[in-house]
Amino acid sequence: MNTFDILQSIIQHRRSVKPSDMNGKKIENTLIQRLLNLADWAPTHGRTEPWRFVVYEQEAVRKFCKDHAALYKAATDPEKFTNAKFEKIEQQGDQLSHIIVVYMKRSVQNSIPVLEEIAAVSAAMQNILLGAASLGIAALWSTGGMTHDISMKQYLGLGEEDLVMGLLFLGYTDAPVKEGQRRIPLEEKVMWHA
Ligand SMILES: Cc1cc2nc3c(=O)[nH]c(=O)nc-3n(C[C@H](O)[C@H](O)[C@H](O)COP(=O)(O)O)c2cc1C
Repeated sequence: MNTFDILQSIIQHRRSVKPSDMNGKKIENTLIQRLLNLADWAPTHGRTEPWRFVVYEQEAVRKFCKDHAALYKAATDPEKFTNAKFEKIEQQGDQLSHIIVVYMKRSVQNSIPVLEEIAAVSAAMQNILLGAASLGIAALWSTGGMTHDISMKQYLGLGEEDLVMGLLFLGYTDAPVKEGQRRIPLEEKVMWHA
């Protein structure tokens, strides 16, 4: 396969895998480090490099999930709170290996539009997902639970203008890779002028 075909295959076969489909096998930290290195090569307007990562492994995964569930309980109207969701968040880490919380660090100068900083961090996250796919690592970009809640920002000690972009759940799976699905034909997403 030429380089394009390899890249295309990795991109098209990358799938989101839920933590409940992961099998508990640990990922070597050297591989996590390699994924972070890929992330660091995302494009960045003004070279602000706004991507930041908080990596949880081993017991810290369990603690993070417990704390995340506690944030959900503390910040949720008792009428909307459900035990099912609380337990889902609390148990999210049981079968995965690492969680990487990714956030956008707003630069002090604020010279780049926030949209572009978010775009740069998204590109960094996609680099991680593609790297993971190429290594046979299962991954999910999650924005569930309290990801976007102010309490998560406070828990992580982030600045007011920083933004949590998502939780990357990483592990291994025994489940066969699912067929990808796209609902809208590409032609409907492209306007081509000649
Ligand atoms: C910004 C963002 C947030 C997402 N949040 C969630 C989430 O909270 N829970 C979830 O199951 N999947 C989440 N996903 C993954 C999507 O569900 C998934 O990408 C989509 O179903 C397409 O499947 P694929 O990634 O296998 O192609 C998120 C994806 C993105 C880009």
